[in-house]
Parts: sequence; C-alpha cells; structure tokens
Amino acid sequence: MKITVFDDHQALSFQVAQMMVAQIKNKPDSVICLASGETPFLAYHLLPTLLLDEGVDHQQFTLIGLDEWVNIPSQNTGSCSYFLHTTLIGPLKLSLSQFKLFDGMAPDLQTECDSMDEFISKRGGIDLMVVGIGMNGHIGFNEPGVSTELYAHVIDLDDTTQTVGQKYFADKTTLGQGITLGLKHLQEANAAILMASGDRKAHIMKATLEGPIDPLIPSTIIRNHPNGLVMLDQKAASLLTPNE
Ligand code: F6R
Repeated sequence: MKITVFDDHQALSFQVAQMMVAQIKNKPDSVICLASGETPFLAYHLLPTLLLDEGVDHQQFTLIGLDEWVNIPSQNTGSCSYFLHTTLIGPLKLSLSQFKLFDGMAPDLQTECDSMDEFISKRGGIDLMVVGIGMNGHIGFNEPGVSTELYAHVIDLDDTTQTVGQKYFADKTTLGQGITLGLKHLQEANAAILMASGDRKAHIMKATLEGPIDPLIPSTIIRNHPNGLVMLDQKAASLLTPNE
C-alpha cells in the first residue's frame, strides 16, 4: 500500500480522475467499481473532460456501483444510483450494458447480490476500485465488524452511517440497511484507491493507517492490499505521524 498526500481536495480529485483516465486508456474494457458521496464527486466531474482531452475511448469500460441504500428508489436524489447517473453515466452517455448498479428496491436482495457477484466474475473481476471512507471506517457499506470474506451482501447500517447519511437526502430518511460489494471484492481488485478529504476524516485516517489492522475499522484492510493507494488531502492527513 502506498500513501500520497495532496495539497487540497482539488489536487487530489484531479489525480484520481487522471488515474481513472489512465486505467481506461491502458485497458479499454476495464471493470471499474465506484463509490458515491462527497469525496469522489469532483474527480468524477472532471473525468468526462479529461477523457475527451486525451481522446480516450470510454465506450468499452464497465462501471459498477459500489453500494446502495436498501428501500430507497433510484429516483431519490440521495440514492447512490442517482449520484452515479448524474455525475458519470449521463455525462459519459454510457450504454445500458456498460454499467451495473444495485437496486435497493429489489424484491429479493439476495438475488440482487448474487447477480452482482456473477456479473463481476464473468467479466474477470474488478480492475480498479475507487472508494471513500465513512467516519466509522466503513468502505462501501462494509460496517465495523463485518467479515472480510464476504462478497456482495446486505447489512444493517451502523448508527453513524444512518446519521451521517442524512446529508445526501432532501428530507429526513430512514436508513436501515445497505447493499454493498464486500471486502473480498476490495481485496481481489487489481488496484484500489481509498480517497479521503477534509478535517472530519483526519481521526479515522489516523486509525486506518496507524492503528492495528482491525475488523472493527474495515478501512484498515487497505493496508494489506498489494496495489492499494491511499490518497488524501492535507486536511485528512493532518493527524498522521510525520515521516522521520
Ligand atoms: C458511498 C460509499 C460510502 C462513502 C463514505 C464517505 O457509495 O461507499 O462508503 O464512500 O461514507 O462518504 P463521503 O464521501 O460523502 O464522505
């Protein structure tokens, strides 16, 4: 695992967007799994222009949505699906066969998980994952204490996630469960970028990078990833012990 600290959120976002461009350029049929949320928003916003500027064909890659709130329809502006449609799927004009997102309203969520696992394995696995980090160290909706051996699954959301998650919704919303790719997907991905930005992520980043590798802080698993990149802005890195 490698750690890189950028001056600010903008520099961090630009670098992540460039790495996504490089991934698609080097392997046009890449399978790329993406988180939603505030952290990657700017990187995704920059991506269409960078792809165009570099003349990179993006009609062959596959986008996988990392997670979704259970019982929230995709038309809800707080859903992960809505976020990925408005930031990437729409602007990049991805075809229906080019993306797969969880449906949090699916009548049978286990079938939804199985279908996602099968979709990924049929495409030979994930080339690149871009994930954020929750205030409790979750990755996707892999909440504290989750098994590191799981693929896609449904999970009860931690209190922190239920509370912090309100920021995405126009009105107070009941957030009981999430459907998410598992930490096994992260471990098996060819490369994984964990992004963190802002002061509010400083404590969890210190625990992630300097505490013990602990299932109670799922993000610590990134440290075992041979191709794991932790990309932070200075604010999120502000509590890290400086290198000697
Ligand atoms: C969302 C997701 C979550 C977020 C995390 C950080 O798809 O997977 O794990 O990455 O909660 O969210 P932000 O970026 O809004 O701080």
